[in-house]
Amino acid sequence: MNASQAVTATPITPHLGVELHGLDIHAGLSEEQMSQVRDALNRHAVVVLRDQHITPQEQVAFSKRLGPPLRVSLFTKHKPEGVDELTVVSNIHRDGVPIGVMDAGALWHTDGSYLAKPDMYTVLYALQVPQRDGKPLGDTAFASTEAAYDTLPAETKAKLEGLRAVNSLTHHMAVRRRSNLKAPPVTGKVDDVAPDVEHPVVRTHPITGRKCLFVTEGHTERIVGMPAAESEALLSSLYAHITRPEVVYRHKWRVGDVVIWDNCSTQHLAITDYGDIPRLMHRAGISGPAPF
Ligand SMILES: [Fe+2]
Repeated sequence: MNASQAVTATPITPHLGVELHGLDIHAGLSEEQMSQVRDALNRHAVVVLRDQHITPQEQVAFSKRLGPPLRVSLFTKHKPEGVDELTVVSNIHRDGVPIGVMDAGALWHTDGSYLAKPDMYTVLYALQVPQRDGKPLGDTAFASTEAAYDTLPAETKAKLEGLRAVNSLTHHMAVRRRSNLKAPPVTGKVDDVAPDVEHPVVRTHPITGRKCLFVTEGHTERIVGMPAAESEALLSSLYAHITRPEVVYRHKWRVGDVVIWDNCSTQHLAITDYGDIPRLMHRAGISGPAPF
């Protein structure tokens, strides 16, 4: 493979996901190839590159071509080889100490939605994939928030117009505790680093202009100005609609996969079905604008 090789694309589902062939991040990507990656993200929201062999520095360099890095100081403890722009996501322990963030993403969510400026994209690289009986474990499920918005009844779209919701890391931690998931290894006070934020329930994609549902089971606490019971009922029905099994793409990881996703037009869920079987990923977050 080289920087002039033609890129071919295989769409994965009608709603989202595309596998791009002919790209080798280690060998370096031309500007034209990078535009094909960006174009694929805009069209398909989740881009899969197989068989990559990259160092943390190469992952950072590639990710920076999609936008400036986003690091949340709550999670800066786990960085591979001292590379500030990456986070280790893993269940592995060394000398009894976790080497990475565990149980990351075990509720439907979109990265950084509890921040004033959430992650625009996430780049996740698989170094170790757990298996049982030769089958991969630890899939990541993706759902299209654009398709979810498009398929809402007109009266629901009208009802959502102008609504805002509180997105909260504090709320996320409480939901995790209720779901018996490990709390993320937060360093510092959540309120100081990630105070609750309000975002539109329907946001507009900053590049494509398409509308996306922007509420998640993992991070959305309530709809602003709505009685609690009504807010809870509306949010639950939206979550169920966004993550209908028939529209979900479940990515089965292979070692060497680089998966890039758009955090406006998708939500995702980490399937934590692998227990102590080692899993190791490196994650890069890319900054985006405040949702509008
Ligand atoms: Fe995530």
